[in-house]
Amino acid sequence: MGVIEILPVETDADYEAWRQVRIAVLPHERCPSVAEMRELATPQRLLLLAALDGKVVANGLSDRSNEAGRGVVAPRVRPEERRRGVGTRMLVALVEHAEAQGYIVAGCNAEDEGSLAFAQRFGFVETGRQVEQVRPIGPEPWPEPPTTYEIVTVAERPELWAAAYEQVALPTFPDMDVPTPLDVSAEQWATEWINDPAAMFVAVAGEKVIGVAGLMLDTDRPERAEVAYTGVRREWRGKAVASTLKRTSMAWAAEHGISEVYTWTQQGNDKMRRLNEHLGFTDRAVSINVRAALPLELTQEIGA
Ligand SMILES: CC(C)(COP(=O)(O)OP(=O)(O)OC[C@H]1O[C@@H](n2cnc3c(N)ncnc32)[C@H](O)[C@@H]1OP(=O)(O)O)[C@@H](O)C(=O)NCCC(=O)NCCS
Repeated sequence: MGVIEILPVETDADYEAWRQVRIAVLPHERCPSVAEMRELATPQRLLLLAALDGKVVANGLSDRSNEAGRGVVAPRVRPEERRRGVGTRMLVALVEHAEAQGYIVAGCNAEDEGSLAFAQRFGFVETGRQVEQVRPIGPEPWPEPPTTYEIVTVAERPELWAAAYEQVALPTFPDMDVPTPLDVSAEQWATEWINDPAAMFVAVAGEKVIGVAGLMLDTDRPERAEVAYTGVRREWRGKAVASTLKRTSMAWAAEHGISEVYTWTQQGNDKMRRLNEHLGFTDRAVSINVRAALPLELTQEIGA
């Protein structure tokens, strides 16, 4: 067994090392830039690195989640450095922090069988699954402009993003297939749910925002983008608002050199998954949501 050290993330170089582990573990996903990560810093949010014999091999995140009372713990070990006890040490450190914040539940995501086995070993149980859907971007025609509402970007009408929080996000979050409703503050909506206002589209009828959809751009891999939150107010459903917004995003993507968009949807959210299939998306990865009650029973036994 090598020597495992758990290290804080402080300098830009530490942040970059943290990002590089995350990119190695989740190559298909965009990772926030150092600047974005610094902006997300809060007292509740803990980022760690783990070194094995002096070399950084893992990272970890412990933070609040979008659900009241639940914290997130995410240990990630470079694939070639697994089964050496690093994941365990990282998990213990992250759980300790989550417990100190007073959370009663910790959640994380496992994307392969080995990671699920690891989580189960520590008492985590599956609570749901998310499916990643991917679509290659080719020449994408702009949809016909709608007649009963208008589509604008947040870059054109910045004030509409805050309005979208009240008028679309809050009323549509309960429709997502998650065990407890999302608890997202207006501030998080303004910072974490959008990255480039030119790539975020809002449907407006009169003065009311009725739908949102757009892209989260990826500065490491500008040829791909993640689909941002898509939501349409209930009274406007069944009128092609979501598909028109999504087609608008795809036409924008095509014009901006993007060759692939991907999206994560709760497995139980059949409506959204079918809409995506209809738009040409196919399934790629599955992410298993797991959670455990805190304090984690095994923490004491394993020690650190
Ligand atoms: C999950 C993860 C962090 C584990 O890291 P690790 O350094 O390999 O974990 P450890 O060496 O501390 O493993 C501890 C125990 O978990 C179990 N375990 C870990 N990986 C396993 C696998 N692939 N298959 C079966 N059991 C496994 C074993 O019981 C292992 O003990 P052992 O090696 O003595 O048999 C790592 O696989 C990873 O980064 N996965 C991708 C990210 C992820 O899904 N993280 C969230 C998990 S909640």
